[in-house]
This record gives sequence, structure tokens and C-alpha cells, in this order.
Amino acid sequence: MKLVFLGPPGAGKGTQAMGVAEHYGIAHISTGDMLRSEIREGTSLGREAQAYMDKGELVPDSVIVGMVKNRIAQEDCKNGFLLDGFPRTVPQAEALDQMGVRIDLVVSIEVRDEAIVKRMSGRRVCDCCGASYHVEFNPSKDGKTCDKDGTVLTQRKDDQPEVVLDRLSTYHQQTEPIKSYYKGTGKLRLVDGEQPVSEVTDAVFATIDSVQ
Ligand code: AP5
Repeated sequence: MKLVFLGPPGAGKGTQAMGVAEHYGIAHISTGDMLRSEIREGTSLGREAQAYMDKGELVPDSVIVGMVKNRIAQEDCKNGFLLDGFPRTVPQAEALDQMGVRIDLVVSIEVRDEAIVKRMSGRRVCDCCGASYHVEFNPSKDGKTCDKDGTVLTQRKDDQPEVVLDRLSTYHQQTEPIKSYYKGTGKLRLVDGEQPVSEVTDAVFATIDSVQ
């Protein structure tokens, strides 16, 4: 099974993607996590990406497409994968088609801009496994460390309110048009992301199961 999760920054893509990928035994591919890992390792790709990410802009398609192409060729993607944060522009969606990847379903998690800024200020993340928590809406068990691996949780640099507003603007201009692209293929399904986390989870699973 090959899935795409769409949605604005902070919609809950990462929160939902981990459980879905585990449940269906498919690889979870988060381009944001891959880029942050390149930054931590100090690679040239990471240095190039950081300048864009810090400003809330998209990393150039040429960089991202090559990175995803290499990733989906790996062994753990043979059974399928869930793309979280890719494609993010129409040219990226076209590049995926040109790679011969047949997407089964595109789930767009819908959250209004007003709700996003509040979510981002309370987000805490695990730099080790990529798990995402929220101090109020989805706290880890002790509120400080990751439930999965005990790593101390941190705040993302691009979750500052002014960068979040830039990321939302980038989303509306460059990523939202992808919805029309996939609507035309009949693969797009919308899920209300402004419900409690567990209810969004139920809606996401029901959506995926309805097309299996
Ligand atoms: P990326 O890391 O992909 O960021 P994003 O898409 O902006 O998404 P987020 O990770 O911020 O949010 P999410 O939807 O996963 O929400 P989460 O589950 O964490 O990308 C970062 C940057 O990398 C981009 O800005 C760009 O520069 C670059 N990049 C990445 N991919 C690229 C590409 N393809 N092309 C070009 N550039 C690319 O949840 C958010 C918070 O809300 C958490 O605190 C969570 O606990 C909480 N929450 C989740 N669900 C709920 C709920 N139902 N109710 C209340 N709170 C909730």
C-alpha cells in the first residue's frame, strides 16, 4: 500500500503517520525528519536545506525529489510506504508519477490556520525517533521525555510563531494546489483534523480501510 498524508504544518500528519505505518507494516517516510537528520549530521544537503527551513520556505524540488527517490528504493519500502510531507508542490507530485509510483490514497488532514499557531507553540518532539507530542493536547507520559525511547523532548526551531505564519503562507501558495491535482485522480480523501487525536486516528483508519 502506498499512501500520502497532506495537510498544513501542524495538522497532525506525523502524529497519525507513525501508528498507521506500524499498523499496515509499511515504511513511514517523513521528508521533514529526513532533512532534520541531514542537518544534525552536518551534511552539505543539510546545510543547504536549513537556510530554507529556518525561513519557513520549501527546500528546492530538485533536492527533495532525489532524496525521496533514493529512499523509496530501499528494502523496507518493498511492502509499501506512507509519504508524510511529500509531495509538497505540484512538480513533486508529477515527479512521483514519473518515477512510476502508483499512489493508492491521499489523505488530507484539514485544520484551519487559527488552530495551527496554538498547536505549534505547545509541540515537543523527539529528535531520536521523530515522535511528536503536545504539552496540552497530546503529552508524553512524564511531559519531558519520549514514551518510546526516553529521549528528552525539544522544541523545533521553525515552531516560533513568525516562522509558523510563513510556513502556513507557503502551504497555501505551493502545497494546497496538490489537492486539486489528486482530486482529479479520484484518490483524495479529506479528514477533519480538528477533533481529539484519537478521533482523528479513527477517521484516518476508517478512510484507509474504506478503499482497501
Ligand atoms: P515538516 O517537518 O514536514 O513540517 P510540516 O509539514 O510543516 O509539518 P509538521 O511536522 O510541522 O506538522 P505535522 O502535520 O506532522 O503535525 P504533528 O503531528 O507534529 O517540514 C519541515 C520543513 O522541511 C518545511 O517547512 C520545509 O522547509 C522542509 N520540507 C519538508 N518536506 C519538504 C518537501 N517535500 N519539499 C520541500 N521542503 C520540504 O502535530 C503538530 C502538533 O499538534 C503536535 O504538538 C501534536 O501533538 C499536536 N496535535 C496533533 N494532532 C492533534 C489534534 N488532533 N488535536 C490537538 N493537537 C494535535
